Amino acid sequence: MLICVDYPDEIVLARQDSAPLVIGFGQGEFLCASDIPAILPHTHAIVTLENREMAILTPLGVEICNFQGDRLRKQPHILSGSAIVTDKQGFRHFMLKEIYEQPGVVRNCLDAYISSNWTADQATNPIHLGLADEFYPDIENIQIVACGTSWHASLVGKYLLEQLAGIPTQVHYASEFRYAPPPLTPHTLLIGVTQSGETADTISAIAMEQERRANKPAQFHLRCLGITNRLQSTLARMVDNLIDTQAGIEIGVAATKTFMAQLMAFYCLSLDLAYRRQTLTLSQIERIITQLHHLPGQMESVLPTQEQQIETLAHGFSETQDFIFVGRGINFPIALEGALKLKEISYIHAEGYPAGEMKHGPIALLDEKVPVVAIAVPGSVYEKVISNAQEAKARDARLIGVASPQDPHAMEIFDDLLPVPEVDEVLSPLLTVIPLQFLAYHIAARRGLDVDQPRNLAKSVTVE
Ligand code: AGP
Repeated sequence: MLICVDYPDEIVLARQDSAPLVIGFGQGEFLCASDIPAILPHTHAIVTLENREMAILTPLGVEICNFQGDRLRKQPHILSGSAIVTDKQGFRHFMLKEIYEQPGVVRNCLDAYISSNWTADQATNPIHLGLADEFYPDIENIQIVACGTSWHASLVGKYLLEQLAGIPTQVHYASEFRYAPPPLTPHTLLIGVTQSGETADTISAIAMEQERRANKPAQFHLRCLGITNRLQSTLARMVDNLIDTQAGIEIGVAATKTFMAQLMAFYCLSLDLAYRRQTLTLSQIERIITQLHHLPGQMESVLPTQEQQIETLAHGFSETQDFIFVGRGINFPIALEGALKLKEISYIHAEGYPAGEMKHGPIALLDEKVPVVAIAVPGSVYEKVISNAQEAKARDARLIGVASPQDPHAMEIFDDLLPVPEVDEVLSPLLTVIPLQFLAYHIAARRGLDVDQPRNLAKSVTVE
């Protein structure tokens, strides 16, 4: 963006390669910003500049052209629905409001992508992601690129794609993928996961892979899917197949509801692929779908009491300096996400580990000053997590369990509980992440920190 003293009525904008640029058309004013939320309080009419486009804003209007100087006619796009709700609606912070919006996010995804009242005796696919038919055949392996919280959602996605749909899946940090991509494999699906659709590392990793595969024989051609919360984003414009995560705009820098929405996208995709490849029986699919439909109600019924209990507990940790989060299997990524949420908004050092790895080093950190949060929900790794938690307790760590209040064993071994309702293990991440979001939120709020705008962080990271 350029402003010059000799031309006080002009702002010149140009976009090349990374940062997005948005122009707002307000009442008697034009605005520009690097992201839509900054403009929303002023107008809902926006134009997004593409790569290698520029614009001149004056009091008389907006002129847009490409770098060759050709004038471009671009009609403002009017944002509507949940994309424009930008007030706190009575909540103290956007993050808290967004945590409470999660049942609605699950419902939006169910309404958008899964047939209601589907039963196993119907001979139709219950999942409708709107992806092209050419998208599906012969996928032999999946590579996912993402950063931060989206990377954690992708790790849950890997579990689902492998365990439900039987497709070998690798999850890469986009920033690492760019400089050490794996050898080319045939019949590969690349999935880019980014709530903002603008993260420079993720966008560049996808662009690099598109280029790397462009002139290769047909079996190496890239099939690419984007999972994003922003239909107007760079990601949305660069891929042929897109899943809109339906979460509505997220203002808090710490991602909460968009993480939930990304998880839902992976559940839908995995069930879709499992149906098509017949890796699950119809009654297994029906069981998962039925439980997914119960989830929003289950969440709504526990959220307020869950928050109340966790708030009281969190106050006792406002001076704590280190936390360890552990989980196994499908809940290992949730341990990582719990640690990231705490780090980014409370500035407390926190680490997430697969519980079984503790004995290979991190257990040396433990003493009475380091609380260990263990995700111990019913399922294949329950006993293992409990036994790992006991090992931590033997080192005097204060044990906090993300567990069911109906579990007498958990009540016995944990010093404190972050309560979660019981569901099938495969769906548990949708519930276990919420108490960890509340824990991070209430510790940070108690410390008097700026929960929605933590230091050193930006909502969209548009630089490498
Ligand atoms: C999440 O709480 C973080 N603010 C951050 O890790 C974020 O998830 C990451 O920067 C990726 O963002 P994206 O989903 O918009 O690509």
